[in-house]
Parts: sequence; structure tokens; C-alpha cells
Amino acid sequence: MEHLAIIMDGNGRWAKAHNKLRIDGHRAGAEALDRVMHYCREAGIKYLTVYAFSTENWKRSKAEVTGLMSLLSRYIRSKKDELIANSVRFRAVGRLADLSAKIRKEIAGLEEATKDGEFTLAVALSYGGRAEIVDAANAWRRADPDGELTEEAFRAYLYAPDIPDPDLIIRTSGELRTSNFLLWESAYSEYYFTDVFWPDFGKEEFDKAMMAYAKRERRMGGRLK
Ligand code: IPE
Ligand code: IPE
Ligand code: MG
Repeated sequence: MEHLAIIMDGNGRWAKAHNKLRIDGHRAGAEALDRVMHYCREAGIKYLTVYAFSTENWKRSKAEVTGLMSLLSRYIRSKKDELIANSVRFRAVGRLADLSAKIRKEIAGLEEATKDGEFTLAVALSYGGRAEIVDAANAWRRADPDGELTEEAFRAYLYAPDIPDPDLIIRTSGELRTSNFLLWESAYSEYYFTDVFWPDFGKEEFDKAMMAYAKRERRMGGRLK
């Protein structure tokens, strides 16, 4: 598998189950991400895309949004050396213009500092699959107003056209929906759902997902004789 994508869901319910604040759940979620990145490296995966904040998540309480943004800012500022040491290239995908100027600057700094990393961690921030398609359509129209739109031409205007489509998308916490994640890119992705809340997602769960994926037959619409 080249590209794994994860909808990191259930931080709030994990916090509630442990009598903690929602933000504590998000903090535990960030730790789970660090762990899972290691498992991906060991498994030879090249790209990990994680859904961290959706275009719809702005509707949450001001306190939660502020808490998530400061967690994100702290993550970016504190992880630089570790990411460089582990050859991780950090990328942010989404409507980054929605983020504060301060965070945008921190993101740009981390992307630049880690640009030679061999493993890509793409973090979806203020990301929506519909927003991405609309943004791509507008960018295409501006760049090539008279051109013929093909699937391949269109792909070039997505947020990260150089990253291959995800082979597997995992969603934690028992919800059986995409919630607007990678709509274009997931056309032929496999899905794996688990009831485990994201902060509890560990090696055992990771291995289970990998084993389930290994048994899938990906035909991409074709048939082997
Ligand atoms: C996922 O956890 C993280 C974000 C969406 C930012 P949630 O915050 O959605 O947790 P639940 O779904 O309420 O348990
Ligand atoms: C999807 O989770 C977004 C992220 C995990 C960042 P949500 O918790 O926001 O999705 P819904 O509301 O359950 O569909
Ligand atoms: Mg949720």
C-alpha cells in the first residue's frame, strides 16, 4: 500500500468516556497520530493523509475551534525537529485561507523545512471534498478558460495533485460515512471502519486494518480473465 488516509474520529466521545474535556480528547488524538505514523513507516507506506479539521468543523463552539487551532499551532511548532529527523514531509491540504495568518505562516515554515522528507504526512485542514472540487474547478477556469476539461487535466488543480489516490481509508469511532473527505480521490479507495475511538487506535487495530486490506480484491472496474 502506497497511501493510507484516516478520518480520525471519536476524540470527543473518548474524552467523555474518560470524564475529560473534549480538548483532552483532541490532545490524545494528536498522540495517536504520532504512533500511527510510525506504524505506517514500518509497513512501508509512503503517504499518510489525515482528516484533522473539516470545512464543517467551523460550526463547532468557539471554545472548541480555538482549542483545536492552538493545538494545531503547538503541534506545528513543536514537531519540526522530530519530523526532519524522521524524514517526514509535512503538507497541509484544504482551504488554508480560512486559517489565521499566524498558523498559515507556521504551516508554510514547516512545509519548507520538511520538503525533502521521504514520507509524506498530509494533514487535511479546513478541508472539504466539495470545497476542493469547487476550488479546483475555479482554478482550472482561471488558468485555462478555453481548454478541454478531462479527468487528468482536472486532477492537476486539486490541493495535492502529486499525491496518489488513497488505497485505503480508515474511519474510527463507528461512523459509517465519509463526512466530505477526499471525494474525488476516493473513487476506487477501499474503506475500513472500526468502532475504536481515534485516541485508542493502536498497533493491534492498525494491523487488523492492514490485514483486512490485504484480503480485498481491487478490480477498479476491470475483470481478470
Ligand atoms: C474528531 O473527533 C476530531 C475532529 C473532528 C476535529 P470529534 O471531535 O469529531 O469526536 P466525536 O465525534 O465528537 O466523538
Ligand atoms: C469528520 O468528523 C472530520 C474529522 C474527523 C476531522 P466529524 O465528527 O466532523 O464528522 P460528522 O459530523 O460525524 O459527520
Ligand atoms: Mg466526530
